[in-house]
Amino acid sequence: MSVPREWRGRVFMGMSLDGFIARTDSDLDWLDGRSDIPHEEIVSDRHALEWDTFRPFIDHFVMGRGTYEKVLTFDRWPYPDEQVLLLSTTARVSDPRVTVVRSLEDAVRLLGERGAREVYVDGGRTVQAFLKADLIDEITIAVAPILIGTGIPVFGALSHDIHLCLIGTHASGGMTHATYAVVR
Ligand SMILES: NC(=O)c1ccc[n+]([C@@H]2O[C@H](COP(=O)([O-])OP(=O)(O)OC[C@H]3O[C@@H](n4cnc5c(N)ncnc54)[C@H](OP(=O)(O)O)[C@@H]3O)[C@@H](O)[C@H]2O)c1
Repeated sequence: MSVPREWRGRVFMGMSLDGFIARTDSDLDWLDGRSDIPHEEIVSDRHALEWDTFRPFIDHFVMGRGTYEKVLTFDRWPYPDEQVLLLSTTARVSDPRVTVVRSLEDAVRLLGERGAREVYVDGGRTVQAFLKADLIDEITIAVAPILIGTGIPVFGALSHDIHLCLIGTHASGGMTHATYAVVR
């Protein structure tokens, strides 16, 4: 689905070195790391994005149902001032913080109607669906220094290769951050 659009689709994910964004039961405990491991800081002239440099520029959020259900378990809702599109064919929620969209096409239509410019796309299957539909323009991955063996994968099958241009990288707290632009 290559559609004209005024917005950029952006991904920011924490991933285990073996390619998972959560354990099979959705647990994210492994992202915290171990404080007793002495990681080196590795700086670069062209820093990758970090949450603090990524988050302020986002004006719209799209998350899959799996991610929404996980976020509901957090101490506080992380997007108090923004409307979030919840992508789900099954969710029956009356949550004023989210607008449920039943398909990718509905999400794209609503983002257009709402004048979206910088869209944070979140969730394993949701990111995969947006990638397949050529709706992702930038990907930042923070790789955690851990192997967890099994879990929810960040990426999946594609019908064609997607080429990326590395635009920044650095390492801190044992996490290597890399930001890529999608090349068309
Ligand atoms: N490490 C990180 O940075 C990070 C970031 C985000 C999420 N996570 C974790 O990842 C886990 C959730 O991942 P997930 O793979 O379950 O993915 P998800 O994308 O959050 O949720 C998947 C659900 O979204 C809906 N969906 C996705 N694509 C759709 C489409 N094209 N059309 C309609 N509905 C669609 C479906 O809901 P229905 O079944 O209702 O149709 C699908 O079951 C959670 O544990 C979360 O904490 C980790």
